[in-house]
Amino acid sequence: MTANTNRRAKRFYNCTLSEKFLYTSFLLLVGLGYLMAISYLYVTHVNNDKQPGLSVEDVANSYYGNRSGTRLEAAIRGSMAGNIDEADREVMVAWLKDGAEQEHFDKDIKPILQKNCLACHVQSSGMNLPDFSTYEGIHKLAEVDTGMSIASLLKLSHIHLFGISLLLFAVGSIFIQSEVNVWFKRTLVLSPMVAVFVDVLSWFLTKYDSHYAIVVIVAGGVLGGSMALQLLISLYQIWFLKKPEQADAVSETY
Ligand code: HEC
Repeated sequence: MTANTNRRAKRFYNCTLSEKFLYTSFLLLVGLGYLMAISYLYVTHVNNDKQPGLSVEDVANSYYGNRSGTRLEAAIRGSMAGNIDEADREVMVAWLKDGAEQEHFDKDIKPILQKNCLACHVQSSGMNLPDFSTYEGIHKLAEVDTGMSIASLLKLSHIHLFGISLLLFAVGSIFIQSEVNVWFKRTLVLSPMVAVFVDVLSWFLTKYDSHYAIVVIVAGGVLGGSMALQLLISLYQIWFLKKPEQADAVSETY
């Protein structure tokens, strides 16, 4: 036996029937899980921006949050707009989008409120309006949705990294027994692994900057697409790939 024949990659047509059953049933269950994952994604993200369909905004809203959704911002852009000038409004909106934290309230926001709002918005005005003289008073109208917490992101990412890489390892180990162009195969084995990494990384980036939502979607698409291809090619070739007449002519690369 030459070294070359020892290195010959295993192909589906060399598999026993038991192996074929094992591979097929596993791949079908993974395929089912894949469809469930997509449906889950759809039903959980689809209404985040109150528009039908899964959009970049939906993804941004779940990681970054919907930071424009406070009653306070609606008021200073709407019914209370006449009480505040453009520059002060911008400072307040920036503060809200930053999470409306107490730290910057005293320094930046309190003076604005004192100048523009406290004529009416204090207890003593007798108008029975929300009291803006303290952080607690304004906070009720400034509860910013900053998306998923770091703790839930960490939980979600480690489950994803362990789970999906293991899954890709199993699916990939089956898929490499298919007979396809070798560069295509190498790309298809590597791309979903890279995509999982980029996907998880971009969740954290989106938490800080909503523009990265597009990366979440692209990486998720690459992951899903390459996994689906591996699945379909494997399932097809397990049952329909014929052993070549001349066994030596087949590719000798893994
Ligand atoms: C001249 C009095 C007056 C001033 C000054 C004033 N407000 Fe108001 N504000 C009102 C009244 C009256 C209401 C209740 C009726 C309404 O919502 O229009 C109200 C309601 C609100 C609400 C509640 C809206 C809701 O969702 O229920 C917010 C928030 C608010 N004001 C913010 C501000 C801010 C911020 C400022 C300063 C930039 C300000 N207001 C200045 C009189 C005032």
